[in-house]
Amino acid sequence: MGLKHLLTVNDLKKEDVDAIMKMASSIHQGNYESLKSTKILATLFFESSTRTKLSFQSAMYKLGGQIIDLPSNSSKIKGESDADTIQTISKYADILVLRHPKNDIMEYLAKYSDVPVINAGDGSNQHPTQALIDVYTIKQYNSKKEELTIMFTGDLYYSRTIRSLLELLKLDEFNLDFKLHLISTNKYYPIDKIINISDTKFTCIDKDQIDQYIENVDVLYMTRLQEERYIGREIDSRKFIMTKELLNKMKADAIIMHPLPRNEELPEEIDSNYRAKYFQQVKNGLFIRMALIKNIID
Ligand code: NCD
Repeated sequence: MGLKHLLTVNDLKKEDVDAIMKMASSIHQGNYESLKSTKILATLFFESSTRTKLSFQSAMYKLGGQIIDLPSNSSKIKGESDADTIQTISKYADILVLRHPKNDIMEYLAKYSDVPVINAGDGSNQHPTQALIDVYTIKQYNSKKEELTIMFTGDLYYSRTIRSLLELLKLDEFNLDFKLHLISTNKYYPIDKIINISDTKFTCIDKDQIDQYIENVDVLYMTRLQEERYIGREIDSRKFIMTKELLNKMKADAIIMHPLPRNEELPEEIDSNYRAKYFQQVKNGLFIRMALIKNIID
């Protein structure tokens, strides 16, 4: 038994991250044991999902556990509150995985649960399990580097995956083993406020300058534009789209990451290039989530 809830990256201590990464790596190599007793994981997704929900469900089945899922025709359509729903489901399950469209609601909702809650994304705020997957993937391909340049493109303002990844990277006691240089393309996003690591360099560039900087990048972390969140806010119509020409400018050992789903920013023709690691990220999601479930309830 490790963590109680995982609501934000800040619930993680160095030893939790180390334990989860180590166990995920052993699971990755095929070495793991089923849960000591049969447990039930409940998925409650009040916002759409493919990877996060199904990888948690698959992770639980692989560990020999069972799943219950809140259906779309639940009593929410009769006006039942989210708090009552959570209070109810937590009587039936040993762990809840919860996604919600509202920012900063997890702490409030978790109070209604008798069992641990994992935040599977709250609005544009946090996505801590994706951050663990992303750090695992970054380390997987960059273990020998002393300095790491990560470029973030796409929707830096609303991306909860970037926000959580930055917060996880910020905690330099996590022994990342490399100095960071972060490059971002959005002047609005408070990346410089979130990142406060000694030795970390931050460069804010314009979208038109991406091709000048891309040759120095070790990790290109792309995101889609979260159009569903742009209510009353102007969308910058100049989208960054990855091309084969840009790909050829990248270092031979650079990697491209994307939390997915993708839109036109990442054309399918990029997938066959060896630098494309976003489907490996998808696969790593299973290892991290299996490790997390074991850490919390086994
Ligand atoms: C993302 C999410 O839901 O935050 N996907 C994921 O969980 N892997 C990214 C997105 O919606 O753009």
